[in-house]
Amino acid sequence: MKINTVEFVKSSAKLDQCPETRMPEYAFVGRSNVGKSSLINALTGRKKLALTSGNPGKTRLINHFLVNKDWFLVDLPGYGYAKLSKKERELFDPMIKQYLSKRESMACLFLLIDIRHDPIAADLEFLNWLGENMIPFSIVFTKSDKLSKTEISTQVENYKKVLLESWESLPGVFITSSKTSEGKEELLNYIEDTNRVLKSK
Ligand code: GTP
Ligand code: MG
Repeated sequence: MKINTVEFVKSSAKLDQCPETRMPEYAFVGRSNVGKSSLINALTGRKKLALTSGNPGKTRLINHFLVNKDWFLVDLPGYGYAKLSKKERELFDPMIKQYLSKRESMACLFLLIDIRHDPIAADLEFLNWLGENMIPFSIVFTKSDKLSKTEISTQVENYKKVLLESWESLPGVFITSSKTSEGKEELLNYIEDTNRVLKSK
């Protein structure tokens, strides 16, 4: 898919402040520092669209970006990050969960996981919460530039094995790097296909 225009629309502190729209949106969620904002920049080819940082907790609001005047990319704060204060976690986690469970225009959620990390409780708990709330999602592994091809497939296979312990089927899986743009075309094609299906309904 060709990206012609991208506009920052709004930062919202909660669901009822988000833009009123019927256009489909694709949200990026995952632990702090996993690379959500960087991936949004890589997908749109705009280096400074979403703010990024080496320090966790950079994104603090729900950020809507309008692409091709047709659909939204949504950058979210990270969840469950241990280094955030309890107060901050208590602020972010309900904000993300309320948005994800109630946002009617959500077309698909991308759950980002750092490819270098083995499955951890915070992500597995979040996955279970998605299942309980019947929220459709795909898994997007990030930072593939940090591992070799062999290491990548070992990590992905290991993750799938752990998922199959509690899930009957596996979600869609993407392997990406914001540095090398690996997976960018696949993600954009997936969004394009989903937009087409939604429009034909
Ligand atoms: P929060 O907003 O704090 O929740 O973090 P985030 O998930 O938006 O992460 P962000 O995009 O700010 O990136 C965090 C750090 O990881 C930054 O230092 C990025 O440069 C780095 N990073 C992100 N994506 C990649 C990637 O694909 N490869 C490499 N090598 N580094 C990456
Ligand atoms: Mg961010």
